[in-house]
Amino acid sequence: MDPNCAPTVALITGANSGLGYAIACRLIVEFFAPRTDGYPAVASDDSTLVVCLATRSVEKAHSAIASINIFLSSRLPEAVRSRLQLAHVVMDLSSPTSVIAAATELRKKYHRIHYVFCNAAVVPFVRIDWSMAAKQMATDFIGALTVPRYKIQGVGWLTKIHPHGSHATEVPPELGAAFAANVFGHYYLLHEIMETLHMSPAAPGVPSRIIWVGSIESNPLTFDIDDIQGIKSTQPYESSKTLTDILVLGSYLPEAGEYFRSYTTIPSPRNPITSAESHPPIFLIAHPGIVSTTIVAIPWWQTYAKNVGFWLCRAFGSPWHCIDPFVGANAPVWLALSPHVDLIKGRKWGSACLWGNREMVLETQVDSDIAAHSAQLWSQMETLRKLWKARLEPQG
Ligand SMILES: NC(=O)c1ccc[n+]([C@@H]2O[C@H](COP(=O)([O-])OP(=O)(O)OC[C@H]3O[C@@H](n4cnc5c(N)ncnc54)[C@H](OP(=O)(O)O)[C@@H]3O)[C@@H](O)[C@H]2O)c1
Repeated sequence: MDPNCAPTVALITGANSGLGYAIACRLIVEFFAPRTDGYPAVASDDSTLVVCLATRSVEKAHSAIASINIFLSSRLPEAVRSRLQLAHVVMDLSSPTSVIAAATELRKKYHRIHYVFCNAAVVPFVRIDWSMAAKQMATDFIGALTVPRYKIQGVGWLTKIHPHGSHATEVPPELGAAFAANVFGHYYLLHEIMETLHMSPAAPGVPSRIIWVGSIESNPLTFDIDDIQGIKSTQPYESSKTLTDILVLGSYLPEAGEYFRSYTTIPSPRNPITSAESHPPIFLIAHPGIVSTTIVAIPWWQTYAKNVGFWLCRAFGSPWHCIDPFVGANAPVWLALSPHVDLIKGRKWGSACLWGNREMVLETQVDSDIAAHSAQLWSQMETLRKLWKARLEPQG
C-alpha cells in the first residue's frame, strides 16, 4: 500500500463509555475540523481516519459506534464522514490471553497505528467512608471532590489467570486487579503491536503517539516501588496512576533508556533491516481533570449529589472540574493532534475548564521522584512482561 494513502489509525481502549467514548468523538471532530478557539494549535487532516474502539464485548462496541454516528451527524458533513471508518476489537485488559488475541487481530488489520489512547481503567471500589467524607468536605470541599480520601478500595484484589508453560511457577498466576487493567494490560498490548507503532524510514512522518490517561489523583504516597502491582496498597487505583506517571515520564530519562529500548524493539520484525532504522513510538500522558462518569459505581442519588458538588467546585474557581467527558477529552486529544510534540512530551497535561466553559490544557505538577524510580520500575515492568510472555507463549 502506498504509505501516503494509508489512513491515520487510532486505537482507544475503554471506548464504550465515559472518557474513552468522549475521546473518540472529540478526536474525530478535531481531526477533520480545525479548532476555532485558536488555542492550542491543532492541525486538521484531510486523509482517512480509522478509529478502532477496544471494548470488552462486541455489543458494547456496536452500541458505541451507533452513538458516535448519531453524534457526528450534526457535527460533520456527510462528505467528511465518508472519510471516517469506525472499527472495533474485543479485549479484556485484565487477561493477557485476551490481550494477545486482540493484538494478533490488530497486527493483521493495521500496518501502522498512529495513536493509542490507553484509557480503560477500573477503581476497585468497595464503599464510601462517610465519616471521612464529612470531615474532608467540611475542611476542604474542593479537595474532597478532586482527590477524595474517603473512597475505600479492595486490598489485595487479584485477577484470575490460568497460565501455561515452563515458567508457570516463577510468578503467582494473578496480577493486582487495578494494575492489570489500568497499566499492565496496556503495557503488554503495546509491545505485542509494536511493529504497527514504529514509523518506517520508507514513510517518514511523526512517530506514533501513545497517550496514557493519568489522573490528578496520582500521589507518590500511594505508590511503593516494592509493590508495583499495588497488591498491599489501600489505594491501588491511585498507585496504578502514579505508576503511569513514572512509566511515561521516565521513558525519556537515560536511567530507563536500556529498558525502553528493549521494550520498544519489534518482537519479530517482518524486515529486520528497515526495522532497525524505524522510529519507536513516544509515550505521552494526559488526564481529564474531573469528569462525571460511572468509574466508581455509586447509587443514583449519590451520583446526583456528586455532580452538584462538581458544579459548585467549578463555581468556586476549580479549573479541574471539567464535568463533561467531552471537555475532559481535550488534553488527551490535544496530545495526539498537536504539531508541537517536542514541546509537550516529557510533561503531564490536564484538561481544565473555567466557569463559562472556557476550556484549557494545563501542565500538571507531578510529585513523584521520576528519576529515582524510573529505572527500577521499567526494569520490573520488563521482567514481568517477559515472564508472562514465556508463560503464555512458551514457544515464542
Ligand atoms: N472520571 C474521572 O473523573 C477521571 C479522573 C481522572 C482520570 N480518569 C481516567 O479516565 C479513564 C476513563 O475513566 P472513566 O471515568 O471514563 O470511567 P468509565 O466510564 O468507567 O470507563 C472505563 C472504561 O474502561 C473499560 N474497562 C475497565 N476495565 C477493563 C478491562 N479489564 N478491559 C478492558 N476495558 C476495561 C470499561 O469497560 P466496561 O464498560 O466493559 O466496564 C470502560 O469502557 C481512566 O483511565 C480513569 O483513570 C477519570
